[in-house]
Amino acid sequence: MIPQSFIQDLLGRVDIVDVIERHLPLKKGGANYFACCPFHGEKSASFSVSPTKQFYHCFGCGVHGNAIGFLMEYSGLSFVEATKELAGQVGLKIPEDTKGATPTLNQPSNDGLYAAMTAAAQFYREQLKKTPAAIEYLKKRGLTGEIAARFGIGYAPDDWQGLKTVFPDYDRKALVECGLIIENDQGRRYDRFRHRIMFPIQDRRGRIIGFGGRVLDGGEPKYLNSPETPLFEKGRELYGLTQAHKAIRDEASALIVEGYMDVVALAQYGIGNAVATLGTATNAHHVTTLMRLTDRVVFCFDGDAPGRKAAWRALEASLEALRDDVTLAFLFLPPEHDPDSFVREHGAQAFRDAATSARPLARFLLDELKAQVDLDTAEGRARLIHEARPLITRVGAPLLRLQLLKTTAEAGGISQSEIETAYGLTSNRPERTQDTWRKPQQRSSQPRPRGRTRAVTPVGILLRLVLDNPGLAARLPADLIEPSDAESLALIAIVDAMGIGDIEADCGVAALVERFRETPHATALSKVAGELVGTEFDESVVELLFEDTLRKLQADAINHEIVELTGRERDGGLTSAERHHLAHLILQKRQLGEPRKI
Ligand code: CTP
Ligand code: MN
Repeated sequence: MIPQSFIQDLLGRVDIVDVIERHLPLKKGGANYFACCPFHGEKSASFSVSPTKQFYHCFGCGVHGNAIGFLMEYSGLSFVEATKELAGQVGLKIPEDTKGATPTLNQPSNDGLYAAMTAAAQFYREQLKKTPAAIEYLKKRGLTGEIAARFGIGYAPDDWQGLKTVFPDYDRKALVECGLIIENDQGRRYDRFRHRIMFPIQDRRGRIIGFGGRVLDGGEPKYLNSPETPLFEKGRELYGLTQAHKAIRDEASALIVEGYMDVVALAQYGIGNAVATLGTATNAHHVTTLMRLTDRVVFCFDGDAPGRKAAWRALEASLEALRDDVTLAFLFLPPEHDPDSFVREHGAQAFRDAATSARPLARFLLDELKAQVDLDTAEGRARLIHEARPLITRVGAPLLRLQLLKTTAEAGGISQSEIETAYGLTSNRPERTQDTWRKPQQRSSQPRPRGRTRAVTPVGILLRLVLDNPGLAARLPADLIEPSDAESLALIAIVDAMGIGDIEADCGVAALVERFRETPHATALSKVAGELVGTEFDESVVELLFEDTLRKLQADAINHEIVELTGRERDGGLTSAERHHLAHLILQKRQLGEPRKI
């Protein structure tokens, strides 16, 4: 555990611009620095870093955070690792464990499990070197030693307790828990993976969390995978992401394929940006993960019937996650091929060309629907419009949704307004037109925060002012803030923390947000702090706005009480003390006056 005071001190010493510049070239523009966002593919520089706020924010995809958060996101480090790295950069040493340090939530240590997986992977790699039949198999499949090493491929020997040489304490509970060893009903233990080519599965941080094991001959099952364990949740992981990460960024596109061998074989042919789902259907989580790295994701499926079905499921799973600045496309290989066999038969360029001309999602969607109906009949056209509805209305990208509406209407022989009426979408619903613009259009040196649909409440204004200048929290009476939403709760928490001297008036926004990491307020606070990255408040405006908003809140509270008391006065009268209080409130209200307009 790292003491909070140390973290605050650390954030006071590092400069987020230096930290980020080690990884990304930054360009100065006005008060802030800009880069192309490393967390989503883009050509314009929406990623901005504020030296005054020590906070970064991407106006395109919305990522945000302080220096620690950047290292966690960008380099995939844990909180502690990121803190250590930063401390190293400014020559600070992390103090020894002290009581009352940062509360870290839900951290039952899985260190033992990770260590076991790493040890097993090393064992399998060594066994591969010693087993000519296994090497022969990989060679036969066209893999070089270099690629096998890149993916950490190994071999599990044909031995019931092969892992005993790695784990003399073969009875350890952790070995069953991480899925390496199976215990049968009689309590006897044996290796899960025997006589199989082993593909280690890594998480985003490169830790080994599972294995896929392939038989060398025609045995069944062809693949055996690690079970779900505390480390391994199949549906969330993508095989090969660690290895593909850089290529995905460099090539500004990612490929999702179905098999381990597809990923490895493509890499063998120099196509390094492929990842695979782990025997599960592609889900929104997979898509979202990749969309953070790039703006083009190509699904690659076999050309046969199951492949088409899998593609359709992937399409359905992606609809909500779609963004207007991302293209999803579908590549169908000839029925007899998977990516592995295709690239080996036709070569890398043919595969690249196929991926480039993959069918964009909207076209695939419409083609599939059209194929199911007879467009020459009124019934068929009506059916098309009917079937498209649940799909189109789920599309999360407003502009793409609009395009789909238009093309579906056209194919169905009706007008855009007719289809909107049929779908119960009135064309000028404000929330639809508003969220159409994810990116601000201006690219001047001073981008404004994204236009929010919802108006900022007085409490929201105060929260923004306090994040800009934490010292203001000392002047806020906490009981004036009605605990209603995440922002108001966060503001109350800040006022409380300031009240007990837990945060310094001059700590700055990055440190303030850091103070609330792993608390229920973390999300709301870092989001608002991100919004503020493009904003420089004028000091005189801050003071004016603060006073006026405070006054407005006070007036609201007083009004509320007046309404309540006058109501009761009408219904049955007030005690003399209450009447006195009412008179006092009315006087107070008059003194407060109307908030000035600024
Ligand atoms: N799979 C699995 N269990 C199986 C079969 C398949 O988990 N019994 C998963 C694996 O992740 C596999 C993917 O589904 O990589 C695709 O399966 P398949 O196309 O049959 O395998 P390939 O990757 O093409 O493997 P190979 O070329 O070695 O046959
Ligand atoms: Mn295959």
